[in-house]
Amino acid sequence: MRSLSHGYSALVLGASGGIGQAFRWQLEMDAGCGKVVCLSRRDDAFDVTDEDSVLRAADRMKSEAFDLIVCATGALTINGLGPEKSLRQISQHLMMAQFALNAIGHALILKHFVPLLARRKRVIFAVLSARVGSIGDNALGGWISYRSSKAALNQIVHTAAIEVNRTNPSSLLVTVHPGTVKTDLSAPFASGHKRFEPNDAARRILEMLDGLTPDRTGGFFAYDGTAIAW
Ligand SMILES: NC(=O)c1ccc[n+]([C@@H]2O[C@H](COP(=O)([O-])OP(=O)(O)OC[C@H]3O[C@@H](n4cnc5c(N)ncnc54)[C@H](OP(=O)(O)O)[C@@H]3O)[C@@H](O)[C@H]2O)c1
Repeated sequence: MRSLSHGYSALVLGASGGIGQAFRWQLEMDAGCGKVVCLSRRDDAFDVTDEDSVLRAADRMKSEAFDLIVCATGALTINGLGPEKSLRQISQHLMMAQFALNAIGHALILKHFVPLLARRKRVIFAVLSARVGSIGDNALGGWISYRSSKAALNQIVHTAAIEVNRTNPSSLLVTVHPGTVKTDLSAPFASGHKRFEPNDAARRILEMLDGLTPDRTGGFFAYDGTAIAW
């Protein structure tokens, strides 16, 4: 990424997922990137619904100063329970699980990993959200738990961005809609939808982040850089 210092160091959270693996690949291919560190539940027992687990993972990296952190953790189906089509299908357990992972878990990630960002220089912390988390863009209904957990995530990252900007005006903290991407997450809902290859999605997102200036911090962007309504 040209906007980061040469030899920059990057951290991929959720590196075992479809888009997370693609981020890893794209960053390892980038000649300007000096180091890519990866973390995942599968390989490192990094469970974002357990604060001790998030704390332990961050603590193991406390000597690092990352220029770029991309977070690709999240779920649409949890323990076999997919998104609701109607109010009748709301399950307290599914909704709590969606919030524990997609919203609160990401607040814990910000709490413990923002201190691992490099100081006084351009840094980027990008968290994957979803366009369906937009209230302004919601014309279809359904998927209440996932939508609302992503809306909460957008607010969490926006609020964190304001705080981080006070100590580092060159910081950029954003949420990103990756598009519909060919991964396990989207597979059950793919019928009739064009899906991007994960490598294309990751490449486009990194290019888009590269072009964002710090005054856009706190924003919610699609993979092509267009701002999405809250
Ligand atoms: N694919 C799409 O079309 C699409 C569209 C819009 C938004 N998104 C968003 O993009 C992100 C990545 O999605 P994806 O398509 O790459 O999904 P994916 O292939 O299912 O990957 C999900 C990732 O999240 C991790 N994860 C799940 N629960 C976790 C937990 N409790 N603690 C830590 N890690 C956990 C998984 O870890 P393990 O595999 O190691 O368990 C995996 O690395 C998600 O936030 C999703 O909402 C995706």
